Amino acid sequence: MKIVYLNSLGEVGGAEGVLLDLLAAVREAEPGWSLRVIVPAAGPLANRARALGVETEVVEFPPSVARLGEYAARGGAGRAALAARLLASSPQVARYVRRLRRALHRHAPDALHSNGLKMHALGSWAWGSSGAPAAVWHFHDYLGARPLMSRVLRASARSCAAAVANSRSVAADVSDALGGRVSVRTVYNAVNLEKFSPVGPPADLDALAGVPSAAQGTVRVGLVATLARWKGHETFLRALALVPRELNVRGYVVGGALYQTAGSQHSVEDLRQLAAQLGVAERVGFTGHVEDAGHVMRALDVVVHASTEPEPFGLVIAEAMACGRAVLTSAAGGAAEIVTPGVDALTHTPGDAEELARSIARLASDATLRDALGRAAHASARARFDRTRLAAEWIPIYRGLKTANGGLAEALHSRGGESSSFISPQAEARGPQPAID
Ligand code: GLC
Repeated sequence: MKIVYLNSLGEVGGAEGVLLDLLAAVREAEPGWSLRVIVPAAGPLANRARALGVETEVVEFPPSVARLGEYAARGGAGRAALAARLLASSPQVARYVRRLRRALHRHAPDALHSNGLKMHALGSWAWGSSGAPAAVWHFHDYLGARPLMSRVLRASARSCAAAVANSRSVAADVSDALGGRVSVRTVYNAVNLEKFSPVGPPADLDALAGVPSAAQGTVRVGLVATLARWKGHETFLRALALVPRELNVRGYVVGGALYQTAGSQHSVEDLRQLAAQLGVAERVGFTGHVEDAGHVMRALDVVVHASTEPEPFGLVIAEAMACGRAVLTSAAGGAAEIVTPGVDALTHTPGDAEELARSIARLASDATLRDALGRAAHASARARFDRTRLAAEWIPIYRGLKTANGGLAEALHSRGGESSSFISPQAEARGPQPAID
């Protein structure tokens, strides 16, 4: 069986972490299968996939395609600007789609797995709908919040043979946004329990943040996330400012800017300024991105998840639980499905800094509670987030695609090679024309 994976990013964020775990799990279970990842830029994802023995290929995004995103475009004016940008970049999109189609022809896979919204659309345009769809769309984020992309994907739904979401919450949203055209199943994410374990070296967060070593007895509380605005850095800093000084808490902001989508993320500089305004600059360290998240988790006493919007899944929650940490999560979306409040995590209302501050203070002053939560979290993670489960859930999906459709390879051949394409030559010259509100 040959599978080609398409990913929207060359860096490694949450969705890419899951992809790497999936690749590792499938390779281990089916060593004879050929797996190839197509990325839009050389970098960490391609390097790490190669290290797993997976073939990689760069089909580079032109800069305007790389920047295309809908997050900052919620609301009327933003949406109009986005629509203009989308149209402006159409010839570049069309050129990219042609290059991707050529790459797919060369590899003639049995199944196409796209990871990330942008790739569901681009992959569909490249592969098209020949009446034998063999594409699986893997959703890591809510589609309903992106009306433009919802319309684009609804229009391409015929090329989607299976849709998979990382939580029930995302599955329900995607199914709705696609107008019920595709049935969406849930496969929860998993982590590498050898890497994310209570046992192992911790990171030196103080050195990474360039701050003096914390005194003995300091409780280290960290938010581990990309700098996307909705990850709740502001809530976290406000909460830290509300925690009584005598509790000896030091906060850490771990993570860096990742996405190229304009306007959707903080800069470390903004966050430092906010910390200074709130009077907590001396009590927070900013480490930037740290490659090994397991080392980070083990260095923290409390791991905070503070997303202000429903979190599709929240991989850091699973990683922190697997490391046996006391976890505080915001209770919405998939994040609320993967913890049992009061047993293996404490939860707060998204964006509620006061409630979060109360939980931080409670954990900072109660080592026994931290320990009990950490142990329960570790047990839950072992039961639910072992990545060997990924192979067991995904392999039947891939096999199903091949059986149902005779495979992408046959479909491509029956369409007579490259010249026979889903997008007509005229449309191709114009570029994809998604419907715009
Ligand atoms: C996306 C989601 C996040 C999830 C990750 C892996 O980054 O926003 O919640 O954990 O994908 O599925």
